[in-house]
Order: sequence, then C-alpha cells, then structure tokens
Amino acid sequence: MNSFTYSYPTKVYFGQGAAEKALSEELSKVGSTVMLAYGGGSIKKNGIHGEIVSLLKKAGKEIVEFYGIMPNPTYAKVQEGAALARERHVDFILAVGGGSVIDCCKVISAQSLLNTDIWDMEFTSHAFPAGGIPMGAVITASGTGAEMNCGAVITHEEKKWKGGIWGTAAAFAVLDPDYTTSVPPMQVLSGAFDTLSHAIETYLGNSDADNVSDDVALAVMRNTVVNMRRLLADINDIQARSNLMWDSAMAENGILKAGRLTDFQVHQIEHQLGAYTDCNHGQGLAVIQPVYCRHILEAAREKFTRFAKVVFDAESAEAGLDELEALIRQCKLPAKMSDLKSTVVITPEVLQKVADTSNLIQTGPRELTRDEIYEILCECL
Ligand code: NZQ
Ligand code: ZN
Repeated sequence: MNSFTYSYPTKVYFGQGAAEKALSEELSKVGSTVMLAYGGGSIKKNGIHGEIVSLLKKAGKEIVEFYGIMPNPTYAKVQEGAALARERHVDFILAVGGGSVIDCCKVISAQSLLNTDIWDMEFTSHAFPAGGIPMGAVITASGTGAEMNCGAVITHEEKKWKGGIWGTAAAFAVLDPDYTTSVPPMQVLSGAFDTLSHAIETYLGNSDADNVSDDVALAVMRNTVVNMRRLLADINDIQARSNLMWDSAMAENGILKAGRLTDFQVHQIEHQLGAYTDCNHGQGLAVIQPVYCRHILEAAREKFTRFAKVVFDAESAEAGLDELEALIRQCKLPAKMSDLKSTVVITPEVLQKVADTSNLIQTGPRELTRDEIYEILCECL
C-alpha cells in the first residue's frame, strides 16, 4: 500500500425515505436561505420537487430556485448560479439531480465566495478554493458517484474543454433508490457503466499489485455487472438499483483509491470527446473503454486476467474483455462513435482534436502518446 490519510466529509443517508430523515436532521444546522438547484425538470414530473419543497418549507427555509442545469453542465451555467447565489445571499445549496446538477453546484458553491474566476484560479494560478457555501446532494440518478467527492466535471464551451474543477464536497448525501425509478432505462445502464469504468480505471493504476483496494474494486465491479444484468431482466428491480446506487458511491468515495495510484485515462479521453460532441458520459465510456483495454492489455495482462476471473468468471484476459463487450451489447449501450448522440458528426478530424487535447495520464499501465489516443478513437468509429 502507498501511504494515505483517509477522512470523509460527506454523511450518507441511504434507503427509502432518506430525504425526509436527512433534511429533518440537517436543515436545522444551516442558514435560512436555501438554493434548490435542479436540472431540466424531471424532478417536477416525478414528484421529488414537491417532496423536497415541502421539507424545506417545514424547516422554515426561504427557497431560491435555480434550474435548467443541463447534462454536461457548462461553465456559463456555473457562473449564472454563482451570480444568483450572491445576489440572494444563499446560505446553503441543495443539489437535487444526477452528477450534472451536483457537479454544477459544487463549483457554484466555491465560485460564489471568490472574487476571482475559479477556472483562472485553478488552471492559471494553480490555487484552489479554501471553502464555499455549504451544500447537500439528493441523488436522483446514480452512477457518477459525484455525491462522494469535491471534484466537479464541467464543460467550458469557449475553451472546448471538459474536465475537473475543484469545488465543495456535499456535507450530506441522500441516496434513495426509489428516487431513481423514473430514470430512463438507458440512463440507468449508462450510469452503471460509468461506475464500472470508475472501478476499472482505479484498479488499472500502476502502483503495487498486492493491494486490498484492488480486491474491493473487483468486488464492486462484479456487483455492478451482476446488478446490470438483473436490470436487464427487470428494469424496476429495486434491490438491483439499491446495489448499483451504493456501488456508484463506493467507486468514488476514496475507498477503492486508498493506498494506490489510479489510471483514469479513458475518462480523460471521454471528457474531451464530451467537450466536442456533448455526448452522454457513461455512453462515451462504453465506446472507448474496451478498445483502450485491448490496446494496453500487454502492459497489464496479469491484472486483466484477474479482472476476467473475478468479474466475469472468464478464463483469460481476452475472454474477460469479450465479456465486457458482450455486456455493452446486451445493455444496448453504444459500442461505436456513430451510436452516440452527438451535436456534431464525429469524424476523424473531430477525433484528432479530442486526441490533441486529452490529458495524458502517467499512472496507468503505460503512458499513451497522442497518436495512440487518436488510433484508439479511430478504432471506435
Ligand atoms: O435534467 P433532468 O431533468 O434532471 O434530467 C436528467 C438528465 O436528462 C435525467 N434524470 C436524472 N434523474 C432523473 C432523471 N430523469 C428521470 N427521473 C430521474 N429521477 O437524467 C439525465 C442525465 O442526468 P445527468 O446528471 O447528466 O447524468 P449523470 O448522473 O450520468 O451525470 C453526468 C455528468 O457527471 C460527470 C459527467 O462527466 C457528466 O458531466 N461526472 C462526474 C463525476 C464526479 N463528479 O465525480 C465523475 C464521472 O466520471 C463523470 O465525469
Ligand atoms: Zn465517470
């Protein structure tokens, strides 16, 4: 194991009725003006908005609504939220949604208390925010694990950049599997694939081989696959959704990363693909992950063999990756670039730009060149 310090800022309320329990315990600790932040309106249709509003009112809070946070949230939306939070003297932010809403709020929180532009601060001055408006997260679509960390993935449209900005971690998170029942099946499975990818990418980090974190990562991967298959049999299987919701949190709460380095090269490539195409994150990963894994297989053959055995009961590294591809097909997740919903036609020229701007990771099985990233992306066409 590498040395590490582990401590966690987010209190998790898991299970049916978790929102009522969490809000009745937590809201007394926060100021009177609460920003209720959400996405494009799914929470109005499924009744979650009404439930949360009545809990906020019961706690005597003044509500400032901030909505329209889009999938792949933009930097402009962050700035809009921060301006509103300042103008209305917001004391607490309650993010209700999937990874996009939570990430947007993490940066709204930090940006609201800064006199400087947070992107410039982090990427030009290499300084990080010391605090932010406190926030909580109510998960309505799981997969990203965004509720369990302070990193936010934001798209800066002018810079054609999608990547991590350091924001505020939620003080508490509500994980009620019932809140996910209205999520469209394809989004449920895309989210689950994202979780699987987080665990794979953590496991592929190039630090020591004999590591308890790897055993936990493999267990999370296996459980994610088992429960994705359960959902294929019955998309409303609430036990499967519960397991996937906790798998999602487990993959991003630092437990799998304790004492080891991580890879996350596929995520870096997918994020830039998102910057150019606005594609769905989990679906972009489903396209790139298997091709990447085959590309670097020889640099991590032993690990891929273990992955094959533990996650898929398959005999060889190659057979494990065959199973991964079969899972993608069974879930009807995109397997090629042309299957992705994109704002532009995905041509080799677009992929060249993605390859030229993706972060290169040095802690994976082996470092890729930009030419290799382009090759991998073109194989996905
Ligand atoms: O906008 P609304 O109306 O809420 O609709 C959303 C959205 O269209 C819908 N949805 C959410 N809950 C629902 C629901 N529809 C019906 N019923 C519900 N209960 O689902 C759609 C997708 O939502 P989104 O939040 O975009 O999905 P996801 O949770 O997959 O988040 C994706 C974002 O998170 C980033 C991704 O890059 C992407 O920007 N990530 C964040 C990470 C982190 N902070 O740790 C890690 C990940 O690797 C990832 O990069
Ligand atoms: Zn992800």
